Amino acid sequence: MRVGVLTGGGDCPGLNAVIRGIVRKGVQEYGYDFVGFRDGWRGPLEGATVPLGIPAVRGILPRGGTILGSSRTNPLEAADGIRRIRDNLAKLDVQALVVIGGEDTLGVAARLSDAYGVPCVGVPKTIDNDLSATDYTFGFDTAVNIATEAIDRLHTTAESHMRVLVVEVMGRHAGWIALHSGLAGGANVILIPEQRFDIEQVCDWVTSRFRASYAPIVVVAEGAVPRDGAMVLKDGSTDSFGHVRLSGVGEWLAKEIERRTGKEARTTVLGHVQRGGTPSAFDRWLATRFGLHAVDCVRDGDFGTMVALRATEIVRVPLAEATARLKTVDPALYREAGVFFG
Ligand code: F6P
Repeated sequence: MRVGVLTGGGDCPGLNAVIRGIVRKGVQEYGYDFVGFRDGWRGPLEGATVPLGIPAVRGILPRGGTILGSSRTNPLEAADGIRRIRDNLAKLDVQALVVIGGEDTLGVAARLSDAYGVPCVGVPKTIDNDLSATDYTFGFDTAVNIATEAIDRLHTTAESHMRVLVVEVMGRHAGWIALHSGLAGGANVILIPEQRFDIEQVCDWVTSRFRASYAPIVVVAEGAVPRDGAMVLKDGSTDSFGHVRLSGVGEWLAKEIERRTGKEARTTVLGHVQRGGTPSAFDRWLATRFGLHAVDCVRDGDFGTMVALRATEIVRVPLAEATARLKTVDPALYREAGVFFG
């Protein structure tokens, strides 16, 4: 059996660990042959491949990024995309495809599998942790650790100057990174996309923090939006999947806080630092187990499924269910964190 592997969407720590798990188990236990597809869906679309065997996965477990490359190419939008993918898989004699990706990449896998009979198994990845049907995606833990360390460091510089420090973290649609790192780092305000924020309320929290002789740390997810819609965040562009790009909420907040409270404020935008570098031990563990179970799905001919974490078990769920909607922060969880605001 010849199995193709691809990594699509934004990269995240742990991708190489999944690839290694798939290849090691597939070769050693099932005698499979592997082909790596380059740059997400671009690989099967254009027949762009890289050799993928035991030598290729040696030493990659702790390395960030992906040895296969990644892109946000959507074959459903490409001219004749489905036929080209089918032709290339047939030409390369690939009988199954393991697709490692987030909502968009796996959404394509679900369509190809369910509507066009392309045999796909999905592995959930994203630092944003916003994929349904799995308790966690790998990459998230590493991103939260990076953001938490940044918040710890910002506390001491904020205190030295008695300033407000605003930390903008990733999360276009979901505030998981903001919520977890904000709690872990002892932030005084956490703002998430799921809950529109009131700038007056934010300034009240900031002021009360100063009254207690502390310098406040505000953690804001990049997709957070104020209640009155005063902020013009959209830069007008959309990504290859049609998502509107947002930018600048951290900068905007610092300016507004300064203007309204008279306190000096600075912004740190963590950006892609959250996605780069070596994965945490948890992410290596999760990614490796996802890889091992994904190759079992291939062996069982269980296509159209995604491996997922439920408590400590790896289970299989329909790809269509996992990609039907995003997993956003439960309002009750957000309210729970509110005791630390202000
Ligand atoms: O989906 C993961 C993510 O890191 C988001 O949190 C972020 O908004 C986006 O990717 C950034 O994407 P790009 O790689 O296009 O800069």
